Amino acid sequence: MKFQEIKNNIYYCGLNDCDRRIFDELIPLEHGTSYNSYLVKGSEKTAIIDTMYPPKTTEYIKRLVENQIGKVDYIVANHGEQDHSGSIPALLEKYPNAVVLTNPKCAENIKSMLHIPEEKIRVVTDGEEISLGDKTLKFIFAPGVHWPDTMFTYIKEDNVICTCDFLGAHYTFSDVFAVESNELYKSAKRYYAEIMMPFRMMCKRYTKMIQDMKVDMILPSHGPVHKNPDYILDAYADWTSDEPKNLVVMPYVSMYNSTKEMIDYLAGKLEEKGIKTFKFDIVDDDLGDLAMELVDAATIAMGTSMVLAGPHPMAVNVAYLAAVLRPKAKFATLLGSYGWGGKLFDVIADLLAPLKIDLVEPLQIKGKPTEDDFKKLDVMAESIYEKHKSIGLV
Ligand code: FEO
Repeated sequence: MKFQEIKNNIYYCGLNDCDRRIFDELIPLEHGTSYNSYLVKGSEKTAIIDTMYPPKTTEYIKRLVENQIGKVDYIVANHGEQDHSGSIPALLEKYPNAVVLTNPKCAENIKSMLHIPEEKIRVVTDGEEISLGDKTLKFIFAPGVHWPDTMFTYIKEDNVICTCDFLGAHYTFSDVFAVESNELYKSAKRYYAEIMMPFRMMCKRYTKMIQDMKVDMILPSHGPVHKNPDYILDAYADWTSDEPKNLVVMPYVSMYNSTKEMIDYLAGKLEEKGIKTFKFDIVDDDLGDLAMELVDAATIAMGTSMVLAGPHPMAVNVAYLAAVLRPKAKFATLLGSYGWGGKLFDVIADLLAPLKIDLVEPLQIKGKPTEDDFKKLDVMAESIYEKHKSIGLV
């Protein structure tokens, strides 16, 4: 298949992976993903920006050959993670005169992870420019979105920027240009939540930097190319803002329905007060949806049954995940039911502690909730309402 031209001799040479169902063995993929690679043909030299996920290497090289790309002078590694750098060894074999251009941190990574010989790597500095003749590649280091080795490659004459994982989406396509839809927005938001949210402040900084650059296009390493950069930049400006929305996210696991009854009751009371809620069944629901809702939530209200005198292990798993994703939530509370005794919340409260969120008085009950317990849930709902009011959400 012929490579699609993006702009003036810049081509898309990546591949879709429609069958991939989970990324990092952690988060389900709703739409597979794409591994984007870009071919940049200057008047004198040719560069490939980012390569391919190792299991797709054979297909990737085959397509480069079919498209008769000729010589390759440079292979730009914007980031060492192998979904983008994994085919560098095969490319170097196919194009032995090529030199890998990358930053010092990524050089160390690809040497250790892919055993790329040092003499094949040329380390660039932040802001350095390399000429391809009528095109210039400018390297902009962007550590923290999402690895310390991440950089962007700006193609000056065309005013387009390859942003590596930043501003991407796990999404597949036949036409490389983004069709703006709810589906794409949701995929980009899930992707931000899972991959970028732990680095929210860095994302905020680079969003502003690219907004100020007024680029014509954004070429990420997953998902479609944005001809309208404001579409994804405006979304990132919203997601990375410091202000949460009037939303309570309620992950729960309930063995005999008592904890679920508490969650349902509390959600109903919060909705009555004008607060949006998102209930999440930890056993059955998709973790990506939870991550996505955590982007905006002001409060996390977690429900758990007791197992062996402690919280249910699946609730512990979700509390750990919530803590490492580092959402902007300001408040949290815990609720749940036990049968014969133990401590329901200590482990979860410890896990959430790094988020430095304000804890609303938790509620642990024995067995099925009573009228008295529901009154205590009324108090919890009122406390959450007051917290939201204190930051101007209601
Ligand atoms: Fe898509 Fe960080 O690799």
